[in-house]
Amino acid sequence: MDIGIFHTSDEAARAAAQIVIEKPHSTLGVATGSTPLGLYAELRKAWQDGRFSASSAYALDEYVGIDADHPEGYRNVLRRELLGQTGLTGETLHTPDGNAEDPVAAAAAYDFAIGAAGVDLQILGLGSDGHIGFNEPGGSLVSRTHVEVLASTTRHDNARFFGNDPEAVPATCITQGLGTIMEAKVLLLLAFGAGKAEAVTHLVEGAVSAAWPCTIMQMHPEVYVLTDEEAAAGLEHADLYRERWSALHSERRA
Ligand code: GLP
Repeated sequence: MDIGIFHTSDEAARAAAQIVIEKPHSTLGVATGSTPLGLYAELRKAWQDGRFSASSAYALDEYVGIDADHPEGYRNVLRRELLGQTGLTGETLHTPDGNAEDPVAAAAAYDFAIGAAGVDLQILGLGSDGHIGFNEPGGSLVSRTHVEVLASTTRHDNARFFGNDPEAVPATCITQGLGTIMEAKVLLLLAFGAGKAEAVTHLVEGAVSAAWPCTIMQMHPEVYVLTDEEAAAGLEHADLYRERWSALHSERRA
């Protein structure tokens, strides 16, 4: 793992954009939530300058049963953030079908499509309970895309997008599985704020365990974890990570 600890989330977003632009990025995996928004703004700028263009993208997850027009449906969030501004079109931005009659079949079909396309670089946020995508604690570490029940902590965390009402947050979703996510060639995870510190500590320094699903990323050969100071506050070996980052990535200030 390469861990970059930045003073601000804006600096981390700029470094993340550099990584996306430098790595093979024709097929991206894209996350939602508030964390990657700064990175998406940087990618839009890079597209305007002709430095970046994605040919296709696959979302990590989608709520089940959310109204197709709901502004917080992940398809709609990603359309607002990325469509027509990063090289992506309605045909090349793929999301799980949260309104399918048979969500289990829709999850399997989505998993097949991702496997056929092959994700070059997967962008990830981090749940405060250690989820990536919506893979909540206690699931399989090698799961495929599946229907998941959201943890109550996650519904509370995401209530801010639903009028601060946890009950208004859909109870289930379709998420790429941990096994699916791990097949991407490069993983780029962003985490900001004190609320992510415990999960970041487990992700980087904890034992690999279904109790903290993000820890499976320790088994991936090319992972970038970019945080602000608050999210990195619990890391025992932060000084070592800073030294390693400046030795390997001096062009990306940390
Ligand atoms: C959400 C999403 C994740 C996201 C995470 C963190 O519920 N399913 O993909 O990374 O939780 O969200 P945020 O970035 O808003 O803190």
